Amino acid sequence: MFYEPRKKNHVLPHDPFKAIVAPRPIGWITSMSARGEINLAPYSFFNGLSAEPPLVMFCSDGRKDSVVFAEETKEFVCNLATWNLREQMNATSEAYPRGVDEMKEAGLEAAPSVLLKPPRVKASPCAMECKWLQTVRVDDLEGHPTQRYVVFGQVVGVYIDECFIKDGLLDTAAMRPIARAGYHDYFVSTPETKFSLRRPKDAGADHLDSIKVAAELL
Ligand SMILES: Cc1cc2nc3c(=O)[nH]c(=O)nc-3n(C[C@H](O)[C@H](O)[C@H](O)COP(=O)(O)O)c2cc1C
Repeated sequence: MFYEPRKKNHVLPHDPFKAIVAPRPIGWITSMSARGEINLAPYSFFNGLSAEPPLVMFCSDGRKDSVVFAEETKEFVCNLATWNLREQMNATSEAYPRGVDEMKEAGLEAAPSVLLKPPRVKASPCAMECKWLQTVRVDDLEGHPTQRYVVFGQVVGVYIDECFIKDGLLDTAAMRPIARAGYHDYFVSTPETKFSLRRPKDAGADHLDSIKVAAELL
């Protein structure tokens, strides 16, 4: 089949877009308002953009609290959503009135961040403390502003539960991170579904010293 999203002619009961761009990592975002109110919500239009500098983004459908709070205090924390925390993660997506602390509502304990005011989710094995960089309101093909607000941040501090570090490497699968797919579906990463591939050396690699090449292949 082939369809054109603008014509909405996919003839399926539901738009398959989110089942194609899947599984998507979940940024479980803690933020704080200028008045000190704490907010926690999951965003699956979330990803890392670059490791050096370490950059992340999440996209909000409308100016939700996470966007407004991140802009107010210029800080937010991305907690890793895991299998063990799936119910709490889902509970924090409920649309509470602005100012209600979803962390408390979901029965989650907060732990202080090291560099920022918004706390991290204590039970999450990883949390990235981010400084807000910019918010981009995306225009569509006609040049009309959409209701999609992309928040960019730079990671300034990283918390890792050391029990997930094995032989000097972070064992992603052992943390069992969950990822969003289409409809009501999610995926979970496990040791059984992990596989490794080494990148082929490109022609230009000869110009690099061997240590740098080895590092890039990791
Ligand atoms: C797994 C999951 C992923 C979500 N991803 C997004 C997203 O990428 N963008 C968005 O606008 N809402 C997303 N939502 C919905 C928000 O979490 C929800 O609207 C929440 O109430 C927003 O909270 P806030 O206003 O406190 O920021 C997602 C919900 C779930 C359960």
